[in-house]
Amino acid sequence: MVIAIDGPAGAGKSTVARAVAERLGFTYLDTGAMYRAVALAAAQRPGEEPARVAEQADITVGNRVTLDGRDVTDAIRGADVSAGASRVAADPGVRRALVAKQQAILREGDWVAEGRDIGSVVAPDAAVKVFLTASADERARRRAAELGLAPDQVLREQHARDRRDATADRTVLEPAPDAVPVDTTGLSLEDVVAQIEMLAVEAQELR
Ligand code: DC
Repeated sequence: MVIAIDGPAGAGKSTVARAVAERLGFTYLDTGAMYRAVALAAAQRPGEEPARVAEQADITVGNRVTLDGRDVTDAIRGADVSAGASRVAADPGVRRALVAKQQAILREGDWVAEGRDIGSVVAPDAAVKVFLTASADERARRRAAELGLAPDQVLREQHARDRRDATADRTVLEPAPDAVPVDTTGLSLEDVVAQIEMLAVEAQELR
């Protein structure tokens, strides 16, 4: 069974997805980490097509993220890689390669998968689809606290990233039509996790 958690940067996806996975005993899949790993690999191979880099890269995600056998868990969280990830994610060839890898990962087992296009593209048959949102200010505040940066700076970068994430022919910031919208502004982690857990229990009963 797949629980898809999509939404914009800073909506709380990672924290929520990890907590839901732990609660239900499912495995957590961070698809954003895969785009980040491709951005890092592409930066190290200038002149090579990012789509080719994405096809060839051996990426594993779990507690640690590895790229071609190297631990890049910390390296992929830098501001440069964030900007690079949003650029490579606009490349349809990169998306095709990573969506295929993600679908192979999700084929068996119970997963909480987090990203932008899980409910719409990667796992359209997901048993539960949640679209997490939060106000722009709240999203920037959370990310600033997480990264130890000034909220103003984060807000500016977030605007740029949201714009890029929403451009071209990408549907990544559009929720799947059957996704349940959950606005996390002002909600506790516990509230949000309980809501999603309830959706998962309902979905299991319907199976
Ligand atoms: O969630 P994140 O910040 O780690 O994602 C990094 C970038 O990858 C972000 O710009 C959005 C993009 N992304 C995507 O386009 N599709 C996904 N399924 C996950 C992330």
